[in-house]
Amino acid sequence: MNKKVRVLLIGAAFSADLHMDGYSRCTDIAEIVAICDKDISRVEALGSRYGISGYEVYDNYEKAIEEVDCDLVDICMPNFLHHDVAMAAFKKGRDVISEKPLATTVEDAVEMVEAAAKSGGKLYYAEDWLFAPALNKALSIVEEGAIGKPLYIRARESHCGSHSPFAQTIKYCGGGSMVHLGIHPIGFMLALKNGRWTELTAMTSGGLQNNFIHKGMEGEDWAACMIKFDDGTSALLEANYLTMGGMEDIIDIYGEKGCMHLDLTFSSAISCYSIPGLSYTVEKAEITTGWSKPAVDEKFNLGYVNEIRHFMECCLKGGDARVGLRGIDGLEALKVINLIYRSAKEGVKIINTGLDR
Ligand SMILES: NC(=O)c1ccc[n+]([C@@H]2O[C@H](COP(=O)([O-])OP(=O)(O)OC[C@H]3O[C@@H](n4cnc5c(N)ncnc54)[C@H](O)[C@@H]3O)[C@@H](O)[C@H]2O)c1
Repeated sequence: MNKKVRVLLIGAAFSADLHMDGYSRCTDIAEIVAICDKDISRVEALGSRYGISGYEVYDNYEKAIEEVDCDLVDICMPNFLHHDVAMAAFKKGRDVISEKPLATTVEDAVEMVEAAAKSGGKLYYAEDWLFAPALNKALSIVEEGAIGKPLYIRARESHCGSHSPFAQTIKYCGGGSMVHLGIHPIGFMLALKNGRWTELTAMTSGGLQNNFIHKGMEGEDWAACMIKFDDGTSALLEANYLTMGGMEDIIDIYGEKGCMHLDLTFSSAISCYSIPGLSYTVEKAEITTGWSKPAVDEKFNLGYVNEIRHFMECCLKGGDARVGLRGIDGLEALKVINLIYRSAKEGVKIINTGLDR
């Protein structure tokens, strides 16, 4: 292994930009050797935005994986392509980062985990919440006993709707707001409780005409899940596409001796009032006029920067990622999401029979 991880980045749009910011801050251990997107103009725009040069440009991911001499393939592609790209990368013996969700179906996700094991490559699952500094600080406060034993956690990600055309069709994305956004609180809770959930009950808006706002979208635009863990903790995990004014990433922790409220999006030290408006305030904000809380280093605060560094360090060592960030964790999160959809559709409570209690 070289001293730097040689990365082939596949996809050059929204999430690729989040990852590139991370790579631009760990040039000591990572190097982008190639970028692929079927829209070459996006590759060029991304490269010039981060001031990199000397990388190879591809518009076909199969050719890129076949030809590029790299250590790791980073998949920033629509959900339905995570599986095929990862399988091709493992065939070449590469390590892989997959954006969330790991795949659109549990079957595909299982194949990815198995292919990684067979090839000896590592599958890293990009759950950025686990690197959000505020969330980690909150967990250290819990650890020191400052709010006593946590009893109930409420967490949500929500915004006004995905910008991606692939997010409208279940075949391409796997569901609605729960699989796109709720997967963050789900992944966080599963990592926190080592996957030891005991029962869950869920409701969703149902998709298409049953949705509140997004009537053309096959997946739901609102979903919520009550879930219990074997240490007695309960959680309410929610996702929706009904939220205007910017993305909400909010976590409330209620303990025996105190409570904590976290706001990953709007916790800026700046309050700004603007009549003409700013060029940008926070992710998914429709307008920037009037009062706003412009994010200070949003990508760092949402966890992407430390996520990329962690994966690069793991790749250099040839080791697994932390709990919550391995392929099997992405698979477990997807399984829970599917059970949430089943609970909502059938109106049933799901008991986790896979736990040896
Ligand atoms: N962790 C997060 O917070 C977060 C945020 C946004 C998106 N994501 C995830 O990142 C992934 C990508 O999302 P996005 O918002 O960047 O999507 P996007 O639709 O903005 O971009 C996807 C890119 O892939 C390219 N592409 C599509 N098919 C291709 C093909 N066959 N060959 C080559 N290029 C192809 C498109 O041209 C586009 O540039 C999704 O899985 C999404 O869930 C994660």
